[in-house]
Amino acid sequence: MQKVGFIFDLDGVIVDTAKYHYRAWKKLANDLGFEFTEEQNELFKGVSRKRCLEILLDIGAIEASQEQFDTWMVEKNLDYLAYIDAMDASEILPDVSKILKFLENQNIPIALGSASKNARPILEKVKLLPYFDFIVDGNSVTEAKPNPEVFLIAAQKMNVEPECCIVFEDAVAGIGAANNAKMTSIGIGDADVLSEADFNFRDFTEIDLEFIKELVGV
Ligand code: BG6
Ligand code: MG
Repeated sequence: MQKVGFIFDLDGVIVDTAKYHYRAWKKLANDLGFEFTEEQNELFKGVSRKRCLEILLDIGAIEASQEQFDTWMVEKNLDYLAYIDAMDASEILPDVSKILKFLENQNIPIALGSASKNARPILEKVKLLPYFDFIVDGNSVTEAKPNPEVFLIAAQKMNVEPECCIVFEDAVAGIGAANNAKMTSIGIGDADVLSEADFNFRDFTEIDLEFIKELVGV
């Protein structure tokens, strides 16, 4: 059996940061004079900060100069950083730590594969950084999911063939990226939404260690 590696998305897989992204985008929308709903926030999952702002401005039918655009990106992020600052280990989603501990005990490489440029401070805040052998995040990529770049870089860093990588993702674009990279994709969340995934689980509490052992081949 070939060596395997595991890649975790961050937002929506390890921690539920979508609510903080939502509050920060909503504040910006309200400041600009329009509403931004939780349903609309669904479109932002797995999507880069820049693309999110483009969608937000489309929703509000707002034209912006490059300078305004850049200022709003910074403003939104400053709000978001204030939420992150208050995070601690209690925000780790249920049973995520159990899976990470198991993989670490088996000496299986673990990488983060996230679109976020704030991935490292979040992992530090929730005290999970030591589990990750490699961090590939929004600062390391030029292409957004569903482009497979983020996961292919992670595979390369782990020195594991893409076909032997297993990806946990909560976003449609992320499952697409894993599939495009020819990796095993595991959808965390609504199976109807993540129907392209190879396997689906509501959350990590549904994942049995026996299932992980089968993937790992131990
Ligand atoms: C993704 C989130 O993980 O990161 C998106 O699902 C977010 O909602 C993107 O827009 C970029 O995050 P950040 O932290 O760089 O603004
Ligand atoms: Mg996500």
